[in-house]
Amino acid sequence: MAANHAASDALARVDAALAWLAGNASAPAHWAIKSRDDFKTKNWKHLGGGNVKNVYEAKFEGTRVVVKTRLNTAAHQERLENDVRGELLYLEYLRDLPGVPKLYGGWINGLLPGARQLWYVVQFAGEDFGVGKGTRHRPTRVNRGWEALVKKDPITAARALLECCRSFSDQGYFLTDFGARQFAVKGHTVSLIDGPLVLSGPMASRGVPRVALLGKNRHNTCSDDAQCPHSFSWHCCCRAKNTGEECEKNTEGGGAPEARGQCLVGTCAPLTSKTPHFRRRLQGVGPALRAPDGAVQRK
Ligand SMILES: Nc1ncnc2c1ncn2[C@@H]1O[C@H](COP(=O)(O)OP(=O)(O)O)[C@@H](O)[C@H]1O
Ligand SMILES: [Mg+2]
Repeated sequence: MAANHAASDALARVDAALAWLAGNASAPAHWAIKSRDDFKTKNWKHLGGGNVKNVYEAKFEGTRVVVKTRLNTAAHQERLENDVRGELLYLEYLRDLPGVPKLYGGWINGLLPGARQLWYVVQFAGEDFGVGKGTRHRPTRVNRGWEALVKKDPITAARALLECCRSFSDQGYFLTDFGARQFAVKGHTVSLIDGPLVLSGPMASRGVPRVALLGKNRHNTCSDDAQCPHSFSWHCCCRAKNTGEECEKNTEGGGAPEARGQCLVGTCAPLTSKTPHFRRRLQGVGPALRAPDGAVQRK
């Protein structure tokens, strides 16, 4: 773990951000942007928005940044607000780790509790790593620059991916929607741009959006796979044959075995934040990153 990610410092930063979000403290001292007045840039270009956020590109002190806030046209405003706050906390908790975009700070609009809206400014993490859902009918199309890097220098490419995934999965985050479109690439750096959900660890008790998984078996003793906790069928590619949609071609049966619930000599294989990783095909480095058959990720 990087020295500047001493666990207690990271949690102290998160707690400072939580106090600010709650209106009980001023913005963290290390933020360059502590209020709307600190961000004077006029030319904002709408970059896009998925289901949760509006994202704009702008400049801050000569550097490309993005400004993010919740979509305020969609339903469930409270949930969306909680999601973007969760992303801010992810950026703060994992600050300085590889593949985590730098958070410059933010501000909150609106005085009424129900209408308060977070805006935050993040490093521009590059172009989309890929498009497509990674399913049979919507396969991944990977960034061309990345594809070229994979051909030229596969070890550097694999390392960039692994470092980024390790940054969040080692801290208890779990990317339920693991796919190329969650990442951005700039040069040799791959970054996770969308804040992931929490499965375990200290962030689980801090009001951050958590993975909703069924804890099917509290005692973790089992006699067959069906008794064990699972994640999602698209992590194990175990239903692809039936639906024909969940995983790309040639990935059936190549997913994480514990993702479908796995009983190993009487004990459930643990579902960890690493479960979905490295098993799905991230085009260009797919086979090289898949663990050997039958391997189980253990904490
Ligand atoms: N830090 C960033 N750097 C570069 N592009 C970004 C960044 N954050 C978001 N984007 C762009 O904006 C799009 C939507 O952002 P995202 O956070 O994924 O929103 P949503 O949660 O609504 O899907 C992304 O797919 C990406 O193209
Ligand atoms: Mg997204």
